[in-house]
Amino acid sequence: MGNVVIMDHPLIQHKIGLIRRVGTGTKDFRQTIGEIAMLICFEATRGLELTDVEIETPICKTKVKELKGRKMAIVPILRAGLGMVDGVLQLIPAAKVGHIGLYRDPETLKPVEYYCKLPADCAEREVFVVDPMLATGGSSVAAIQMLKEKGCKRIHFMCIIAAPEGVKAMQEAHPDVDVYIGALDDHLNDHGYIVPGLGDAGDRIFGTK
Ligand code: PRP
Ligand code: URA
Repeated sequence: MGNVVIMDHPLIQHKIGLIRRVGTGTKDFRQTIGEIAMLICFEATRGLELTDVEIETPICKTKVKELKGRKMAIVPILRAGLGMVDGVLQLIPAAKVGHIGLYRDPETLKPVEYYCKLPADCAEREVFVVDPMLATGGSSVAAIQMLKEKGCKRIHFMCIIAAPEGVKAMQEAHPDVDVYIGALDDHLNDHGYIVPGLGDAGDRIFGTK
């Protein structure tokens, strides 16, 4: 079973408190989503393997640690996942970025695929899927399925707010995927929105409502 890690860092909790507020405007919302994504990425990359390499400082030769050559990819689920990309890239700037376009049908709440463009060698990469919201789990489960069909094996998922329903769906569908969550909320309402949540993440990042 993949790990489910819920962030307990005070900076993450404080910043999530800021984006939940109805009065937080687009500019601050977008900026804070990026900051939270960076902090979650810091935790989500804790398990990356290191190797020893010999280098020379201005004083002498010594051994230092270096990431063990595994290439990485970040895959945002469009649209709202885009808001997390820059924050993650600040920590892993050499990562390639793939895009998966899915939207939730407002009636059925089922994900509808409309775009998929991934790095050609994504199957060899350590993949970090990002989406601020894990609600029913339909979108994330489908996105990860698409990645597996392209041969990806080492997949991690990062979200900012999750509902218990979404966590359960992810664990059932993809028990091999580690899930990193900024905050675990209470439940979903009748429209599939997370309670207390933060509303529609895509609309709040892009100012479309
Ligand atoms: C939101 C969110 C997730 C999805 C979560 O996207 O960004 O992708 O809903 O819900 P689920 O877990 O029930 O699938 P939305 O469909 O609103 O599209 P958008 O990002 O384009 O606004
Ligand atoms: N998508 C969102 O943007 N917010 C929710 O609460 C649920 C799905």
